[in-house]
Formats: sequence, structure tokens, C-alpha cells
Amino acid sequence: MNDLQQNQTTAQQAESLEDSRANPLRPHELHSSRYFQLLKSRRKLPVSLRRQEFLDIYHDSQVILVSGETGSGKTTQIPQFILFDEWESGKKVACTQPRRLATTSVATRTAAELDVPLGDQVGYSVRFERKTSRMTRLKYMTDGLLLSEASKDRDFSAYSCVILDEAHERTLSTDLLMALLKMATSRRPCLKVVIMSATLNVEKIQSYFPAAATFEISGKVHPVQIHYLSHSTPRYCYCAVTVVKHIHKNMAEGDILLFLPTSGDIEMVCSILRDEYEDLTILPLYSALSRARQEEIFEDSEYRKCIVATNVAETSITIDGIVYVVDSGLEIRPVYNPRLRMSTVLTSPISKASAKQRAGRAGRTQPGICFRLYTEQTHRACFIPSAPPGILEGELASQILLLKVMGFDSVGTFDFVDPPHPEVYLRGLQDLRSMRYIDDKGTITRTGRIAARLSVHPKWLNAFMEGQKNGCLREMIDLAAISSTQHPIFLRPPPARFAADIAHQRFACPLSDHISQLNALHAYESAIKTENRLPINQWCFDAFLNRRALSEAVRIRDQLVVSLQNELAITKEVCRFEDAEYDTHIRKTLARSFFYQCALKHPDMFGTIYRTVHEGHTAGIHPESVLSEGIQEWMVYSEFVSSGTPYLQTVTAVDPAWLIDLDFFQDDSLPKTADGNFKQPLVKKSLDKARKKRDSLEEDLISFEILDLKAT
Ligand code: CDP
Ligand code: MG
Repeated sequence: MNDLQQNQTTAQQAESLEDSRANPLRPHELHSSRYFQLLKSRRKLPVSLRRQEFLDIYHDSQVILVSGETGSGKTTQIPQFILFDEWESGKKVACTQPRRLATTSVATRTAAELDVPLGDQVGYSVRFERKTSRMTRLKYMTDGLLLSEASKDRDFSAYSCVILDEAHERTLSTDLLMALLKMATSRRPCLKVVIMSATLNVEKIQSYFPAAATFEISGKVHPVQIHYLSHSTPRYCYCAVTVVKHIHKNMAEGDILLFLPTSGDIEMVCSILRDEYEDLTILPLYSALSRARQEEIFEDSEYRKCIVATNVAETSITIDGIVYVVDSGLEIRPVYNPRLRMSTVLTSPISKASAKQRAGRAGRTQPGICFRLYTEQTHRACFIPSAPPGILEGELASQILLLKVMGFDSVGTFDFVDPPHPEVYLRGLQDLRSMRYIDDKGTITRTGRIAARLSVHPKWLNAFMEGQKNGCLREMIDLAAISSTQHPIFLRPPPARFAADIAHQRFACPLSDHISQLNALHAYESAIKTENRLPINQWCFDAFLNRRALSEAVRIRDQLVVSLQNELAITKEVCRFEDAEYDTHIRKTLARSFFYQCALKHPDMFGTIYRTVHEGHTAGIHPESVLSEGIQEWMVYSEFVSSGTPYLQTVTAVDPAWLIDLDFFQDDSLPKTADGNFKQPLVKKSLDKARKKRDSLEEDLISFEILDLKAT
């Protein structure tokens, strides 16, 4: 490796190092036989056939746009080409991915291809989890994580090259990184930027980097026959099962890839198919699966494989041998609604571009067939051409805060590929202002700086400070950690729903889902500590709790405690559970820190409907909530879910008396109609009642004091 010169490496030099028996990255080790097997297949990838051409362009340019068919070797090979070229620099090469699952999966693959243990020369880093060391020279990471690194180092000075992969997805973080890298390249002439994408929507990015060189890889693609349904059906899972059965029974060899929107759908379809066939290898693929189960999709199988996946298999993960694709045409998308001030998670139709990508997965190695579980008419009329970039759909408050920390004050005039919608931008500013993270002039405050450094959403700092006042800081940190796990801690598998509900009752706090979550976490921690008890796996299984989510919450919590130690006085002391006021302290803290997510019960003939205080949106309480009966008047909620019926999820009952002194609930802050009346008279009435009660209570106290005086 020491002979390789930065910016001068030739494909021949690099390849001869790869061909040698000794591992150039690990001086005293020989390449394994698996290494040579992998090398043989890598060399056939379209990207590898043009290594020299790529290097020529790379040497001549600072910014390079790479586009190519999925599976042509962009993600696994190009970072290696660059690693060899940049070896001399001693700096790292970063390669970002929008998804955690893809990040860890490609890092594992690339480490195997270079014949090094994962975490040594090749590693990965995702939020709350990393496998890197001082040796790491090629780092796969999520775009969000590189963005938070950039907030501390605008020059990306640890890196010789930053590769933004899957840029066509246009996630909010990738868009921000493009803007930051554009500036960093002008300050650091030796910093290289490679932007990689599938062959779609590249024009926008090209016009954003007009001076960039382009490298296009046209992989071999085989024709894919497309079949549509003749009538639409809402029962897409059932329909998917039927189609898979049909393929397996009647059609020639070749693996099947089935796209479904949710992990729940995936597990259900997998269990139906498993019951039916012994000669079909059924493999789920979604982010909540354990690493080992995710890797199973790449293993050889004696039987036909049927992989049932979310849209992670659309472009970021390539599986060889797929001949049949079954496409539900649906995906899960979190969409931020600025009027709701919430990201809502929706099952929605995919775009035409995604449908094309999905179909393309069938034609990688031979002509394939794609079954679309929707009609041609639906595809034509209901699918948008391509998904809008995340910056137009995402919540911006935390990103604006991040840019402000980095010293960009007028984020409104920032040079984005696509500037955000002004309404979303203004909402973001307002939210930061109401949390006091920026002042009236829009300048970041001290609190704002601390909030931006948190590894959880900045809104939690407010809750921590409020919790400190009420003696439940630890509990708020626990809740922040629970809310940041990738998956819910309560399991409710469809076949055992009833049993799960019964098992969960022992954690239930009748007034709060948040406290119920805390109870589960604390029970889990004491179950670990208590010796001579059930093994923890069994304990979690019996309690219908997700062990991975719980241990993730504990890990996040411990990291938060460490990172907050200098900012807040965190004592070992926790709120005492036996304390009669335990629940009240926590509920009050939640009310006062998430006041902008309050809802009031609305008298309604058809069940229990709540209406959000400021935006006036109506929703029910999620049926899984301890408060689903809707007896309580006021609520704070954590999520607004609106796939089908809108629901408030993870709610806590609150007392309006805790809110009446907040600016947000004064008469001039409450929303009004055009003619100056209160938009929600019920809210006003309830707040006034609470104020009256407080005032009369104060009067009582005063007269009590007077009486007291007389007595002495
Ligand atoms: O990024 P791009 O879609 O262009 O391709 P890639 O992810 O680099 O994958 C290139 C090839 O590597 C695939 O076609 C697979 O044959 C192989 N691969 C694999 O077998 N296992 C993985 N975990 C990743 C890639
Ligand atoms: Mg890729």
C-alpha cells in the first residue's frame, strides 16, 4: 500500500495488490479463500470493468457524480477504489447511506471483500451504535450521523473524500450535506466529494454542482415483463400471497422479491407462506430484524427463495438471483405536516420512479417478471412521477437549529438544492422560539446550543430542564431514550394480541402511556439485576416486551446521561416510585414541556374525539393506549398517526392548571377566527375554569393565613 500515491493510483497497481496472496491492509496476514471467491465475482461488476476510467475522472476533479443501475457495484466497489487512492493521505473515506439497515449491511459486505474484521479498516457508524476503531479508514455511516459530525467540523477535516450514496433519495440530511460539502470544497481544495445515485432524478443534482464531472455506469439490464391487476384490491397482503403461490407452483426457477409496506405485513405474509410450503425459503427483510437474520437473505438456499421486504430492497440492498418481483405499490412514509406540527406516518402509494426501480430488480441477471398488485389505471393516475425531496416534507426545527449552531444565521437564504417551503421553515423558527432555543432576533441561545448537541431530538432538552425542576429528570431522560429507539418496546403480535394486552397490564399507569413505558423499562432493568430469576430473554418474551428495543433504550439513556453530565446536574437519585406524587410530577413535566402537543376532549356523539389545541385537528386516542376510553379531558400526545383514522398515540392525561401560566395558553396566543372570536371556545372555557379555580384556591389560602394570624 505504501507505494500507492494519492491521486495517481492506477487500476493495475491496485488490482495487483488485490491479487496478491498477502493482504495489503493487514501486513502479516494472507488472503483467505473466501476473499478470492468474492474477488472473482467483484471483478465482473460493471463498475470494476471501468476502474481506470473512474480513477482518471477522480484524479481530475473535486466533485464527481456517479450514476448507475442498482447492483452495478457503486456502494461496495467505488469506496474501495477511493480508499486505495487516498491511502497515502492517512485520512478517512466516508460513505453515507440514508438507512441504518443498508449502512451496516454494506459495511459488513465490504469488510468481507477486503478480508478485514468489521470495525478494523472498514467500519460503520449509525446513531447510538458504532463499529469503528482508530484503524478505520473506510467508514460507512448514515447521512444523519455525518451531518451531526459536520456540526462540529464544517470542513470535514477527518476525511479525504466524502461519498454521498443514494443521493437520488434526497433525504433531508443528504440535501443538507450537499450544501455543506459544496462550501467545504471551496475551503479545502484537497477534499473530494462523490455523489452516487441510481439512474433517476440526477438532473437537479447536476445543476446544483455545475462544475462536477460525471461518471455513468450502464449496467446490463434485461427486459422485465409487467403484469397489472385488472381490478384493484385493498387486501394487498392476501393478494401478494396468492401471487407468490402462483409463481412457486407454475413458473420456472428464480427467486422472488415481494415488496410490502410494514414489518407487520411482512411477518404476517411470511407466516402464512411458511405454513403452506416446505420447499420455499421465506426470508423477511426490514430494519427491526436482528443482524443475523438480515444476513440470511444473502445465503445460498437449497430451495427457491422468497424475500419479503420493505423498500430497503428497492435500491440500497441488492440481492442476486431475483427473477420475480411482486410489488404492493405501497410504502411507509413519515410526512411532516407543518400545520399539525407533527410527522405523521402514512402508508402511501409509491412513486412511478420507485415502481420502475422495484420492477428493475427482476431483470438483473436474466429477463424477469414483475407483478404489480394494482391496476394500470392506478399506476397512471395515482402515482406521482417521483417522491418529493425530504426537505420539502420533513420537519425542519432541528435542522435549522443545527445550521444555526454552525454559524449560518440566515438559514432562509441558505443555498439548498431545493429550498424548503416557507411555511415549514417559519414553523420551524416559531417552534425554536417557543422552546427558547433562539431569541427574538433569531440568534441561537445558550440553551439552544446545548439542545443542538443532544443525540436525541432537541425538543427533549426542554423536558430535561422542566424535569430537573420537578425532580424527575432521570425519568425524562428515560423517556427520551425510549422515544428514540427504532421500534416500540411493547410487542403486540397479531395472533397473540389479547395475551399481550393482559401481559402489559402489569406495567399500565391508568393516566399515562409514557409512565407505562417507564414502568416497563424499569421492570426490565430490575429483572436483569435480580439474580436467580428467569433468563432475561424469557422474561421479555413472557411480558411481551421487545428486548432489543429495551436494551437499545438503556444504551441510549446511558449515553445521554454521560453527555448531559456537564450541562445538567444529574443525580443518582430517581423519583421514588412509592412517592404519592410520582405520577403527578412526571405528567406535569410532560405537560409543561410538550405543551404544543396538547389536545382537548370534544363532546361528540360518535365516540371519543379529541381536538389539538392550536391546530384544531381532530383525532381519537389510539386503541392501544391506556387512555383509549377517553375519559380524561386534557392530553399531551407524542405522535399523531394518520394512516386511515387519525389517532393520538402515546398520550398522558394532564391538568389544565399546569398549563395556564404558559404563554402558549394566554388569550392572545390562542387561535382566533377572522372576526376575532376564539376558534376553539371549549379550550378557552376550560382554561378559564382552571384559572378561576386557581384564583379561588389562592383566596382560600389568603383567608386561611388571616385566620391563622388571628389565632396567634
Ligand atoms: O450500489 P450498487 O447498487 O451499484 O451495487 P452494490 O450494492 O455495490 O452491489 C454490487 C454487487 O455486490 C451486488 O450485485 C451483489 O452481487 C453483491 N453484494 C452481495 O452479494 N452482498 C451484499 N451484502 C452486497 C452486495
Ligand atoms: Mg448502492
